[in-house]
Amino acid sequence: MDQFSEQPATRVIEQGFSIERKWWHTSTVYQIYPRSFVDSNGDGIGDIPGIASKLDYLKALGVGVIWLSPIYASPMDDNGYDISDYQDIAPEFGTLADFDHLVAEARRRDIGVLLDLVVNHTSDEHPWFIEARKSIDNPYRDFYIWRRPGADGGFPNRLKSSFGGPAWTLDPETGEYYLHLFSRRQPDLNWENPKVRAEIYKMMNWWLERGIAGFRMDVIDYIGKKVDQEIVKDGPHLHDYLQEMHRETFGSRNVLTVGETWSATPGSALLYSGKDRRELSMIFQFEHVTQQWDEKFGKWRPKPFDLVRLKSVLSKWQYALSEDGWNSLFWGNHDLPRAVSKYGNVTGYHMESAKMLATVLHLMKGTPFIYQGEEIGMTNVPFTKIEQYRDIETLNMHRLHVEAGYSPEDFLRGANENGRDNARTPMQWSAAPHGGFTTGVPWIEVNANYPKINAESAMTDENSVWNHYRKLIALRKKHPVIVYGLYQSWLDQHPDIFVYSRTLKGDRLVVMANFTPRPISLTIPDELQVCGECLISNYSPVTELCEGVELRAYEAFAILCKAPAK
Ligand code: GLC
Ligand code: CA
Repeated sequence: MDQFSEQPATRVIEQGFSIERKWWHTSTVYQIYPRSFVDSNGDGIGDIPGIASKLDYLKALGVGVIWLSPIYASPMDDNGYDISDYQDIAPEFGTLADFDHLVAEARRRDIGVLLDLVVNHTSDEHPWFIEARKSIDNPYRDFYIWRRPGADGGFPNRLKSSFGGPAWTLDPETGEYYLHLFSRRQPDLNWENPKVRAEIYKMMNWWLERGIAGFRMDVIDYIGKKVDQEIVKDGPHLHDYLQEMHRETFGSRNVLTVGETWSATPGSALLYSGKDRRELSMIFQFEHVTQQWDEKFGKWRPKPFDLVRLKSVLSKWQYALSEDGWNSLFWGNHDLPRAVSKYGNVTGYHMESAKMLATVLHLMKGTPFIYQGEEIGMTNVPFTKIEQYRDIETLNMHRLHVEAGYSPEDFLRGANENGRDNARTPMQWSAAPHGGFTTGVPWIEVNANYPKINAESAMTDENSVWNHYRKLIALRKKHPVIVYGLYQSWLDQHPDIFVYSRTLKGDRLVVMANFTPRPISLTIPDELQVCGECLISNYSPVTELCEGVELRAYEAFAILCKAPAK
């Protein structure tokens, strides 16, 4: 069943619980950052016709859904996460006709299109905000969050912007402050106003009518905020609003919805995605990302990689959502560093470690998300000067850190490791100039390694990272044990090896991976000794696990032992 058919869902009964089958359980999602994907007209900026020209590429990879980061009209203060018209396309990306064409062409290939729903805030150039700031009694005033100066004449309270500095900006016209949890050009909408919610639902329905397959919801855990109590995440009405949204918009449609929720815990994940909740299909949780950040300085001062911690977080989420709710599975996105640079080894074992990471992630329970370029093992970009960066967050934080006396070199080291532009350098299509991304001058430099790492060469090499991803995507469609099997982790305290099993109706899958460049010898516990078919490996196939095994550098494999036929 795909996302376009309306067949009633069947139920799988296994291990004492039932789960309704959804088309997105067997699909893999591919995230596109339009600005950096393909430029069709030589202006140096990726665009929608560019995306359309790569649908056959995406089909060959096997993805069922593409999620587009924002394509709407925008002054691009935060690359489109600042929207000035929700029902139009940014001219640099194309037109509505280009969009409709993309949706139709994607659909012909059984690929659904997810849009990014950015409704915590708008751009300061949105007509609602232009009206709202005119006067205190303007009919749109209450679409945003305004407060009089605090008792000392300064900011109304201590809320901070994620991009640095206070979350309040004084608007001289009326002498009041407005709230912006991101840049001052991204004023927060007032979700407590039912008119705001009604406008958003109307807009969502307008896109759903155009045939999209669902939404990714930007910082959706912020919409229930209680500003005066300084509560931003998980506010008291958050789940009421999501249930209302479900009822008023996508609830009657067979679509995929995924919320971006940095604050989520396994408990709140069940509120968002539990089967009787009528909220979202799934959320993105970020615990595996933030456990590697400094408690005080966050991502700008990364901690060394710790596999035991990573395993404990990923396994905790697998267990927590094993009977209800659903996990999303991802290593990267447009806000995060490149997976192979973060968790793998780009110096000696680029290909082995990229494949190992894909294997570990894609064989867990949940819906995998691939960020553009991950499928060819694209890496972080070693910018050496702040002038090479484009991201508003990195540029603001650089200024604030340097003003606070932090060394610019240390800041750059952090930005090289975790800055958002690592993910935003252009997609590397070929060995042509600028990686084949544009015939003009790209808006941000292409990573210099494009002659080696590019899609064209990956597709012709049977052993490439690309072909490994293609196999993993196909395996998920073929083997229910990958989709629904019960997850169990093993050797939790082992500092170098990740091992887990999946079981479904007597079928047993064992996944094993070495996260280091060293060969590791391992004694296999009795319960894990299996013999069967090697579904995937990044060296030579391994078909059995006896008492002992030696894993090579970054080696990963999966063995499937089928239940005997009755
Ligand atoms: C989300 C987006 C990020 C954006 C922010 C504000 O975290 O993923 O790119 O800057 O929200 O919209
Ligand atoms: Ca262009």
